Amino acid sequence: MAVSNPHFNKVSTDYDRGRVSEDIWFWAGEAERLAHLDSGSLVVDMGCGTGNYGLGIRTRTHTTVVGFDPAMGMLKQAQEKTPDLPVVQSVAEYMPFRSDVFNLVYAAQVWHHVVDKQAAATECCRILKRGGSKIAHTIGHAQLNSKVVFKYFPEIKQSQLDAYPSDEAFKTYFAKAGFRLTEIYHYNMERYQSADEFIEIAEKKLWSMFRPISREGLEKGVADLKRWKAEHGDAPIRNDEMITLFVGRK
Ligand SMILES: C[S@@+](CC[C@H](N)C(=O)[O-])C[C@H]1O[C@@H](n2cnc3c(N)ncnc32)[C@H](O)[C@@H]1O
Repeated sequence: MAVSNPHFNKVSTDYDRGRVSEDIWFWAGEAERLAHLDSGSLVVDMGCGTGNYGLGIRTRTHTTVVGFDPAMGMLKQAQEKTPDLPVVQSVAEYMPFRSDVFNLVYAAQVWHHVVDKQAAATECCRILKRGGSKIAHTIGHAQLNSKVVFKYFPEIKQSQLDAYPSDEAFKTYFAKAGFRLTEIYHYNMERYQSADEFIEIAEKKLWSMFRPISREGLEKGVADLKRWKAEHGDAPIRNDEMITLFVGRK
């Protein structure tokens, strides 16, 4: 079994600490609305990690959800948190599911890790029923360009622009995979994080964008954040959550 990103096995026990600010209930509602889910719907959480989105979608929509991820460390956390959420080890390029079965494949913050994105898009289309939806929950290039984290850690910006597919790339992957159309929805939600939270995320590399980063780049960003804290006390830093949903319709 190919494990695309061994980083996630290392950070799995602390992983959720880097994701606490996300409004998963809201995103589950968007999944329900955009994919027209009802209690009979079948959902795949692609790259489920510790199971946050699969669990959120199941709780809000009362659908049946199965998750998969290549990283055993992440799956172990998912099972400890939610023993009744079925999860399986796999990669998006080869999904262990029959064709034409699911109503939704939801992938939160996964696409930039997938090695063969075209193969993954083709697999998503294969396992969906006609009328089913693929939702890639990610960040668009314009949003990425304005992220505050790059003010402190500028070195990692280009690697992120290279890793995340552009709008055009998503449209091409989805069209070649057989999706009828691709819809694109941008979200910008006001969010604040403390300097300490940022420092922990950077030092523990809880966000994969911090890998790789040079020691100097990391230390300079952390020092700048500590200086900001010394000047502003416990005032939070504005770090809006910027998300794009790329929705493929089969
Ligand atoms: C940023 S985490 C997101 C986890 C989860 N979706 C969430 O939002 O909490 C990215 C996940 O993608 C998984 N991943 C990496 N390569 C993958 C691939 N080729 N197919 C499916 N998942 C992959 C990683 O193991 C990791 O758990």
